[in-house]
Amino acid sequence: MSKIRPYSMAFCGGAYGDEGKGRIVDKFVSDFAKKRDVIVYRDNGGANAGHTVEFENGKRVALHQLPSGIFHKKATVVLGKGMVIHPGDLLVEILQVKAAGYKLPKIVIDEMATLSLDTHRAFEAVLKDWEEGGKGSTGRGIAPAYVDIVLRHPLRVRDLVPFNREKVAKHYKLYQGLLRGLGRALADVDVPELGSTKLLAVGSLEEFTARLSQQAKTIAPYIKNVYSLLQTKWGDKKTAFIFEKAQAIGLDTRWGVYPDVTASDCTFDGIFSATEGIVSPSDISIRAGVLKATYMSSVGIRKLPTVMEEKLANKIREDAHEYGATTRRPRGIAYLDIPSLQFFSRVGNCNALILTHMDVVYAEHPIKICVAYTKGGKEVSYRPDQEFLHTVKPKYIELPSWDKEKLMKAKTKNDLPKEAKKFLQFIEKSIGLPVHMITTGPKREQGIIF
Ligand code: IMP
Repeated sequence: MSKIRPYSMAFCGGAYGDEGKGRIVDKFVSDFAKKRDVIVYRDNGGANAGHTVEFENGKRVALHQLPSGIFHKKATVVLGKGMVIHPGDLLVEILQVKAAGYKLPKIVIDEMATLSLDTHRAFEAVLKDWEEGGKGSTGRGIAPAYVDIVLRHPLRVRDLVPFNREKVAKHYKLYQGLLRGLGRALADVDVPELGSTKLLAVGSLEEFTARLSQQAKTIAPYIKNVYSLLQTKWGDKKTAFIFEKAQAIGLDTRWGVYPDVTASDCTFDGIFSATEGIVSPSDISIRAGVLKATYMSSVGIRKLPTVMEEKLANKIREDAHEYGATTRRPRGIAYLDIPSLQFFSRVGNCNALILTHMDVVYAEHPIKICVAYTKGGKEVSYRPDQEFLHTVKPKYIELPSWDKEKLMKAKTKNDLPKEAKKFLQFIEKSIGLPVHMITTGPKREQGIIF
C-alpha cells in the first residue's frame, strides 16, 4: 500500500524537454530549505542535459550534470546511481558555479553511478557518420555509457577511487577495437568538452589515463556510498526530498520518437531503480510533469504531428529563447498536442502538472490545441512511432488568448485573466491531472502555486 512521504516532490519534463524544470526546482528547494534539510536527487542522464539559470543580478550559469539545487548552500545534492557521469565536464561545471560567486552545497556522487567518458563520445561521433544508431544524439556519449551497463562492462565512479588503471586500460582498448572496426583511430577522434569551444582529440591511452586519473583525484571527496544516507534520510520523514529528473518523458527510449531519444529512464519510475528500491515513486507526494503552457518545443529530426507554421514558430523561438542549451540547436515549435501529453503523463507516472511560459501568448493569435488524432476518419491515440505519427491528422480547437500584462502581474489564481483560468481548467480536464503551479514570467517571483 502506498504511504505518501511528507516533504517530497519530484519534477520531470512532461513533453520533449526544456520545459523549465530548473526554475521550479529552485523555487521548491528554497521554500523547503527555510525550515528543514533538503536533498536534491538526480537519478538519470548526464552531460546531455542543459539549462541556463538566470539570476536577478544578471548572472547566467549553464547547468548540465548538476541539478538546480546546486545554488542552495543548505541543500545536499546527490548525483545518483542511474546517472552517467563525465568527470571532466563535471569539474568544469563545478568551477563555473563557483566562479559565478556561489558557495557550493554538499555534493555527493553515488559510487555506483556509471562513467561516461571521451571514449563513449568518440564512439558516438563515429556512429553518427556510420549509420542510424548515432543519429539524434547530443554527442555527449550518453547511450554508449548506458550500453556498457547492459553489456556488463561499465566503468563505475568507484573505479576512480582508488584509480583502477587496469580496468580503465581495458575499457580504452575495447573502444579502440570498436572504432578500429569502424575504420577510425580512437586517439584521433575529436570530442566535445565542457569549457572548450573546440573539439578535442581523445588522445593515446597514456594521455587519456593521465587526464582521467587527475580528474579522479579532484572528484574523490564527493564520491560516497549513498545507500545508507538515502535509507536514513528518506526514512526520517523530516528531511525534504526533491527529485529533479533530467530530459523528459518524450525523450525516453520507450516512450519517445526515434531517433531523438535518450538512453535513461526519464519517468518517475527511474527513481525506484536508482535508489535501489528505497524510494517508491508512488510515495512521493507531488510528481509533476512540467509542460510549456501554450506550445511545445522539440530538438532534433522527429516530426511532430502538430508542428507550427514558421511565422508564429519563429516569433515564439525568439521571444522564449528556444535554442538548445547544450548544442545551441534551434528548437522546433509545435502546437500543444493533448494525445501525446496524456500518454506521457500516464507512462511517466505523473500525478500533477506544472505549466511554465504562461506569458508566451499573443493578442492576435488564439491558442490552437490538438485535442485528438484521426486516421482514416477514426480517432486514434498517440503512439511512440514516427511512421505512425506521419499518418495521423490532428484535430484542433482554439481557445482565446489572455492579457499578457495582467497575467504577468498576477499573484494568485484569482488575479489571472478569465481566459487563462479557462485554459487551465481545459488542460486539467483533458490531461486528467491537477495543475500544481504555473509560471507567469521570467522573474523568480513570477510563479503561482495552487
Ligand atoms: P542523448 O542521449 O543525450 O544523446 O540525446 C538524445 C536525444 O535527446 C537528442 O535528440 C537530444 O536532443 C535529446 N535531449 C537530451 N537531453 C536533452 C535536454 O536536456 N533537452 C532537450 N532535449 C534533450
